[in-house]
Amino acid sequence: MVEIAVMGYGVVGTGVIEVLAKHAEGLTLRAHEGIHVKYVLVRRDFPNPPMMGTFTKSFDQILNDPEVKIVVEVMGGLAPAYDYVRRCLLAGKSVVTSNKELVAAKGADLLQIAKDKNVNFLFEASVGGGIPIIRPMSQCLAANDVVGVAGILNGTTNYILTKMFRDGADFKNALAEAQRLGYAERDPSADVEGADACRKICILASLAYGKHVYPKQVHTEGITQIALADVEYAESWGGVVKLIGEVKRTANKKISIIVCPMFVERESQLANVDDVFNGIMVRGDVTGDIVFYGKGAGKMPTASAVVADVIDCVKHLKARKYLYWADGEPDYVEDYRNES
Ligand code: HSE
Repeated sequence: MVEIAVMGYGVVGTGVIEVLAKHAEGLTLRAHEGIHVKYVLVRRDFPNPPMMGTFTKSFDQILNDPEVKIVVEVMGGLAPAYDYVRRCLLAGKSVVTSNKELVAAKGADLLQIAKDKNVNFLFEASVGGGIPIIRPMSQCLAANDVVGVAGILNGTTNYILTKMFRDGADFKNALAEAQRLGYAERDPSADVEGADACRKICILASLAYGKHVYPKQVHTEGITQIALADVEYAESWGGVVKLIGEVKRTANKKISIIVCPMFVERESQLANVDDVFNGIMVRGDVTGDIVFYGKGAGKMPTASAVVADVIDCVKHLKARKYLYWADGEPDYVEDYRNES
């Protein structure tokens, strides 16, 4: 039996606990060992009903328990998540996270610690929710040089744009509807201003090109300025507007990276990614284009990716897996305006 701890008991955390309980038998089969949640770290009041002896408010209890081999971080944000994850890795525990802000800001540092400590730091859920993308890019497409990646990486903004195109709703009303349905946060700025999509394309770029790309290096525009006039104009040209995160190699061996609303022709597969779905197109020099499509957000799709990483960690407790990129050089990222 492998003992794990889950830090965070919000939407994703409760999903993780549910999947671990619901699929215990199948997971044991696939991990070749049982998985037991020894602690759930909660920051506010203990939830009701209590899970016998499982809830704790003490991070140190998790850190100092040598039985805990794998820690799941689903708290979100940088503080205290970065400090906690770092200390868990330094203590020789493998870490699984869904936290794109953390990976986009501190991925190189955390991957280096994981490498030095011969433990795993896995983050499949950080991009595309339930869509497999981190593992396919780092394993299945490893024979390729990645020519580029372009994707609809944020479900909330894609839902808003879909409402604008399909129902003629204006931005304000479409956002209100997204909030009513629980897609958008009460403070939706990270979604609508493009920061969330930016973090995700930074992670994919770092993975594809082996050097950390930081969000501050990426020209980022959200969808707040998209008006119904833009919708009509795009339609008159036979297309739609999508918030796209894109990275590609440039002729001078740097990379060009951007997040902004783009015109997408109706025939493109990305034009038909609607509602809260995500679509990610990876162009390999050997494979050509490959498209990944599915639910990019939400409790259970995200929990699916987190639990898959936990299984991977259980299977590789005594060996590091494949994920790694080095800290970046500032001039590695081309100014997007210079691209040919
Ligand atoms: N707010 C994000 C989205 C959640 O709408 O895609 C998943 O990262």
